[in-house]
Amino acid sequence: MSLADLMMPLARCLDPERAHRLAIQALRLGLVPRPKRAVSDRILQSEVFGITFPNPIGLAAGFDKSAEVPTQLLGLGCGFVEIGTLTPRPQAGNPKPRVFRLPEDQAAINRYGFNNDGLEVGLGRLRDRDRNAGIVGINVGINKDSADQAGDYAEAIRQSAALADYLTVNVSSPNTPGLRDLQAADQLDGLLDAVVEARDAVTKETARPPILLKIAPDLSRDMVSEILDIAVARRVSGVIVANTTITRPAGLKSQNSGEAGGLSGAPLFALSTQVLAWAHIAAAGRIAIVGAGGVDGPETAYAKIRAGASLVQLYTALIYKGPGLFTTIIDGLGERLRRDGYNNVANAVGVDAAKWADGSSG
Ligand SMILES: Cc1cc2nc3c(=O)[nH]c(=O)nc-3n(C[C@H](O)[C@H](O)[C@H](O)COP(=O)(O)O)c2cc1C
Repeated sequence: MSLADLMMPLARCLDPERAHRLAIQALRLGLVPRPKRAVSDRILQSEVFGITFPNPIGLAAGFDKSAEVPTQLLGLGCGFVEIGTLTPRPQAGNPKPRVFRLPEDQAAINRYGFNNDGLEVGLGRLRDRDRNAGIVGINVGINKDSADQAGDYAEAIRQSAALADYLTVNVSSPNTPGLRDLQAADQLDGLLDAVVEARDAVTKETARPPILLKIAPDLSRDMVSEILDIAVARRVSGVIVANTTITRPAGLKSQNSGEAGGLSGAPLFALSTQVLAWAHIAAAGRIAIVGAGGVDGPETAYAKIRAGASLVQLYTALIYKGPGLFTTIIDGLGERLRRDGYNNVANAVGVDAAKWADGSSG
């Protein structure tokens, strides 16, 4: 049993925001042990939007909002880490308490409201990092009181582009009033035009980080198709499906399920995987889809890939299963791909998309 395994039950006695801070400190101080062996398996290596990923399992945005420990997180064995959401100016976020565990549902509800140290401080930390340590995406958003939303996203992209392996435009947090409205076609088109132009203005063609768009799971199939068409037309390289949900799926058991905010974890799995399949089908191979929502082990990670995800991200399951989860998933995913006769993870992407899209899988 590792020190991290011993600390997990202790951390669960603390309120979740303090436990989160403690986890960041423990990572910073090197108290979270790295896997004892190299986590590389050729079957899991694939090229997605021009980047070679050592494995397809990443840490989703929101854990390391201000880029305090990206290199330590990469050391846990994940294939990539997404830091952020960073906003142009530092922001305190909503009043506490603002994050809640739903243990009986293996879920969480958060209404953090983009608390972060701001772009200048966050990017300052990334400037010192060893770029060879692994793939780091920068997820950007806007301040609650932004007076020029598209302009602020463009500025955030301009500042981040040189330091990012990829960039994520987050228009799907439920905790910034009006943010999700930017997913509507008329707004999204201008926004994506502005961010792609901003990236191109500050980078040479040979060193241009791909831009991804992160969407909500609370969208109709028609809206998802429309978003995908706009993303392709505006030269966005991928879409992350999905952020947290403002819905409350039937059957939630935990006392905290009535809290306001975005729901993540196991109850988000089926909903977000169906939307992922819609996105994969609408993309029709033109751009890649990243799947997030309720991944908690090899089986759910494999299901995301089969539903259409070229890459997978997770966050909430780490709260319940601890940092060894990445190596558990990586090992189990390799086994499942070999069992089913695939020689590379890329060949399994989307094989069950039709089933997930019509709701007959899962
Ligand atoms: C506490 C918490 C904070 C989050 N903060 C962010 C954020 O700042 N930006 C973002 O794009 N997503 C954020 N997310 C959403 C996650 O990145 C992810 O899309 C979502 O939780 C679904 O994955 P999961 O079920 O594995 O947690 C947050 C999620 C949680 C649980």
